[in-house]
Amino acid sequence: MFLNLRINMLDLLIALSKGIDLVSPELAGHHRRVAYIALRLAREAGLSKEGQSEVFVAGLVHDSGALEDTKNLVDFEASSIHLQGHAEVGFHLLKDFQPLAQVAKIVRHHHAHWAETRSEDIPLASHIVHLADRIAILVDYDQCVLSQVPSILKRISDHEGGRFMPELVQVFRHMARKEVFWLYLKNIDSFFSRVDPESSYNIELNNEQLLALSDLFRVIIDFRCQFTSSHSYCVGEIAETLAAYNGYSENELAIMRVAGNLHDIGKLIVPLDILNKDGKLDPAERLLMNTHAFHTADILGQIKSLGPLHDWAAFHHERLDGNGYPFHLSGAQLPLGSRIMAVADIFTALVEDRPYRKGLDLEEARSIMLNLSDEGGIDARLVGLLFSHSTEVFDRLVKARELTDTKYREFRLMINATKAALDPQASAQPLEPRYG
Ligand SMILES: [Fe+2]
Ligand SMILES: [Fe+2]
Ligand SMILES: [Fe+2]
Repeated sequence: MFLNLRINMLDLLIALSKGIDLVSPELAGHHRRVAYIALRLAREAGLSKEGQSEVFVAGLVHDSGALEDTKNLVDFEASSIHLQGHAEVGFHLLKDFQPLAQVAKIVRHHHAHWAETRSEDIPLASHIVHLADRIAILVDYDQCVLSQVPSILKRISDHEGGRFMPELVQVFRHMARKEVFWLYLKNIDSFFSRVDPESSYNIELNNEQLLALSDLFRVIIDFRCQFTSSHSYCVGEIAETLAAYNGYSENELAIMRVAGNLHDIGKLIVPLDILNKDGKLDPAERLLMNTHAFHTADILGQIKSLGPLHDWAAFHHERLDGNGYPFHLSGAQLPLGSRIMAVADIFTALVEDRPYRKGLDLEEARSIMLNLSDEGGIDARLVGLLFSHSTEVFDRLVKARELTDTKYREFRLMINATKAALDPQASAQPLEPRYG
């Protein structure tokens, strides 16, 4: 089968921005709301179409660097020192994906105070995203939005010429007169059902770009915590290996890797203290952890033209006997690609270290997986295939870990250096990856 998905980049970024929202309940809809306000400000301020597109996409991904410190994001009074860290991390995450290189520069300065940085070369677009972000967090979306307008205008105007560029605050005051601005802000899904198709990000991704963009999100998903730092990459590696044994084409193998990169995007909803818990999860924590499979399906389900990628990634916790979650699909409803992903995910998880145990050896993993296939949960043929090539599979897994461990170490060094530069009192995070 020749597989060319024709996925639209803007469509993908809009959906994946909902994944970044998951890291805190207070951020629900946040990235799309900031993108919407920023686009309106950019239009009113007379930016070019290109500039508007950049500002919009920067809004969609602006807090992608907030992997751990989320409590300050929605605090209007938080100091710029406490907010600058995630902006810098976001820049480093995004900068190497060429179509987002300009967006990365905007994200880097999205908490820069206007008065303090006037002598620096801060893009106008960063000031726009900054103002949009602060407007977005001032709204209480559970209350009537129109009744909040006077107080929001006052809080923003209090910082005109200080935190915020005066010309932009004027533009905002002009926009704020229109009820429709606020009503779309509250009903953000309605706005996004009619996003301007003229955006310069409204382009079809080829498989290479799709893989690179999914890789960027994989880092956001996995690098929050030492114990997941190589997970999605290794799942993609094992799934690709199994798919190759099953005769998948080059294009399909690339899509399988993308599915591996994104299969746990819903895990962004799991708090760090649960991911790092030094012991088995209690029942409530386990239930919350298991919701991640739903959120992966929910996010990926909103992307058009995803083809088989959706089922390969979203059904990785389904079981052939209907005892998986969250859909309880049966074997007849699970395509080979989904079965491959389930086997790859279980194998990777078993041989991975957990906070409370070391990774199992191959024999232990084999015995558990044979039990699972005997019970009818996972595909016995795939388990047989995996262990009949166990030396090659394990070799690939070890190489994949080495690669991600090096990247994880570099990433932590960058975060620690960023924190230290901003706040010398900040404590450094551990550098050692699990298999370092
Ligand atoms: Fe931010
Ligand atoms: Fe934000
Ligand atoms: Fe999972």
